[in-house]
Amino acid sequence: MKRAVVTGASSGIGAATVRLLRQHGWPVLAVARREDKLRELAEETGAEYFVADLTKPEDVEALRAHVESTGGVSTLVNNAGGALGLDSVENGSDDDWRWMFEINVLAVRRVTSALLPLLRASVEPGGAADILTVSSIAAHISYEGGGGYNAAKFAVHSMLDVLRLELSGEPIRVLEIAPGMVKTEEFSLNRFKGDAAKADSVYQNVPDPLSAEDVATTIVSMLELPPHVSLDLVVIKPVAQSTAYKVARGELKVKGQ
Ligand SMILES: NC(=O)c1ccc[n+]([C@@H]2O[C@H](COP(=O)([O-])OP(=O)(O)OC[C@H]3O[C@@H](n4cnc5c(N)ncnc54)[C@H](OP(=O)(O)O)[C@@H]3O)[C@@H](O)[C@H]2O)c1
Repeated sequence: MKRAVVTGASSGIGAATVRLLRQHGWPVLAVARREDKLRELAEETGAEYFVADLTKPEDVEALRAHVESTGGVSTLVNNAGGALGLDSVENGSDDDWRWMFEINVLAVRRVTSALLPLLRASVEPGGAADILTVSSIAAHISYEGGGGYNAAKFAVHSMLDVLRLELSGEPIRVLEIAPGMVKTEEFSLNRFKGDAAKADSVYQNVPDPLSAEDVATTIVSMLELPPHVSLDLVVIKPVAQSTAYKVARGELKVKGQ
């Protein structure tokens, strides 16, 4: 049985992943809070959808019950997440940090825990279930102003390492994709609390930041590898980005030309 649950499916990387999985013939349940966006995506792709705020335990329990009563799940894509602010540690806001921990760490644990029995039940002889989580390059490399987002994404990376150890011996792949700069419509706008000029400046003159489709293509490739092949960690960046905090702006040129 193959069926994917994709969280954070109402925009960006999640929506692109739903589109591509549907193109590849997967049954998909798309999850997020904004029903209008999910309905549009469902009409476009034939995905099913479920409205849930994953920071609320009762919504996650309702999601679990819905998944169980509608055919189960073989593949969980934990994609919902985001950043708030670029404040220094000294000036950080408790509310921003709390939000980042809630959605990037606690919600991932809650959804994974709720769906694990259903993921196990989906495994056929010779097959595997998948828990693929979208972390970030910020889960691996610290940068100034990254404090709350770094701390949350480092935490989810560690949790995935622990989970992989705890699931040792079971046919369940624990996969992590850690993207660098991806130009999605809402990520930076949310980070800067609606300040479009600040959000645009992140990508200004960066030659070809990643697109949501680039990341979706990689996610679907990871999922469609033979079930004994586990791409535990994939770091994906635009060529213009050497590391989290070093991005080339302007045209890329071969030295000496
Ligand atoms: N863009 C980048 O540069 C970048 C780089 C590295 C990693 N990432 C990571 O990639 C993932 C997707 O990012 P994106 O760029 O596609 O951002 P995005 O467009 O802002 O998408 C975030 C998604 O999360 C959902 N979400 C937020 N809070 C939620 C909640 N409480 N319950 C359920 N769903 C919730 C949002 O839907 P609703 O608002 O409808 O709930 C939305 O669909 C995130 O984990 C992000 O940290 C992004």
